[in-house]
Amino acid sequence: MDSGKLKIDWARQYMPVLTEISSRFKKEQPFAGKVIGMALHVEAKTANLVQTLRDGGATVHITGCNPLSTQDDVAKALSKESGVFCYAKRGCSVDEYYDAIDAVLDAQPVITIDDGMDLIHRLHTARQDVLPVVIGGCEETTTGIHRLRAMASEGKLKFPVIAVNDTPMKHYFDNVHGTGESVLTAIMATTNSLIAGKWIVVAGFGYCGRGLARKASALGAKVIVTEIDPRRALEAFMEGFHVMSMHDAAHIGDIFITTTGNRDVITGKHMALMKSGVILANAGHFNIEIDGKWLHDNAQSIEERDGIHSYHIGDKIIHLLAEGRLVNLAVPKGMGHPIEVMDLSFAVQALSAEYLARNYSKLESNVHDVPDEIDRAVASYKLASLNISIDLLSKDQEEYMESWDMGT
Ligand code: ADE
Repeated sequence: MDSGKLKIDWARQYMPVLTEISSRFKKEQPFAGKVIGMALHVEAKTANLVQTLRDGGATVHITGCNPLSTQDDVAKALSKESGVFCYAKRGCSVDEYYDAIDAVLDAQPVITIDDGMDLIHRLHTARQDVLPVVIGGCEETTTGIHRLRAMASEGKLKFPVIAVNDTPMKHYFDNVHGTGESVLTAIMATTNSLIAGKWIVVAGFGYCGRGLARKASALGAKVIVTEIDPRRALEAFMEGFHVMSMHDAAHIGDIFITTTGNRDVITGKHMALMKSGVILANAGHFNIEIDGKWLHDNAQSIEERDGIHSYHIGDKIIHLLAEGRLVNLAVPKGMGHPIEVMDLSFAVQALSAEYLARNYSKLESNVHDVPDEIDRAVASYKLASLNISIDLLSKDQEEYMESWDMGT
């Protein structure tokens, strides 16, 4: 049996929200006659999003959003689906990566779905020929949103984009629990290392960093947080984590994980201070947080095991996972976030794409929040699938919440 298809079907049984949306899309066909172009991590959960959009009438052209995150068996299974064209390949060169993005754009997509903004970047630079057909896009991740906001503030964004990343249903679950669990799972499965009792340094205390810090602590790690934002640093401190600079943490840490989305978070200066045997991993979108070039230029490297490059500097060894690319998807054993959280994130994606298809003419060329009704609908679908009912506001409570003259 086709292993990619088995993975896709396995994921589907734990994606009740997307399944519910697929059923409605099959009847309503919100994307009838439309081409959707995607650059996402091509793995089993993403394949379920692709099927949902296709069920809604779209023809979907998809490629990867990271040279190391594609699962080739899933890509192959997707290519066999009717109405789906997949160009992703694991381990592609940068040229092949952009050739595949161009193949998606050659299909003249009217809606784009990105994870990291490489598709939209290409559209606004080398492939402006496709801009006139695009009605809007959706963006999955923090890094992509940073890039989009920078573009919009320079007046360079040429169509509306929905910031899927920024909505509560993404932050609270995908970033906190998805990153928190999948990054530790990937590190453990790749290194077979114990977490309990280790000093784990988490760089960044945003939604991803805090999820990771809490989960590592729950496994018995001693967690150090590094932050540049004083409020977040204080939050981390009051959650019981050790807070210090990366310079100070460098001497202590056993495992270092970056979650900042920024460059040069762990540099040669820090690595020179580290103990022998440390493990470095990045959980951010691009491979810019850990200075891999410094390691490359200053040490002899061997690929010690699948997904681990070991750098020898004198008698010290530093292990870098997944070449500094996002570890939960880029190590060979990386499966990405757990299925149930991607069900929520991809439900928001599917409904945001539908919102664009129905409302694009009313939206300015800018970055837009996910409409609150969509965010709440995804939470309600999920609660219903869990057979959980919650209280509703009474009429009196509603009135009270809207009044200003009922005081002491
Ligand atoms: N699977 C598909 N997309 C993903 C993402 N952005 N993060 C983690 N796992 C994923």
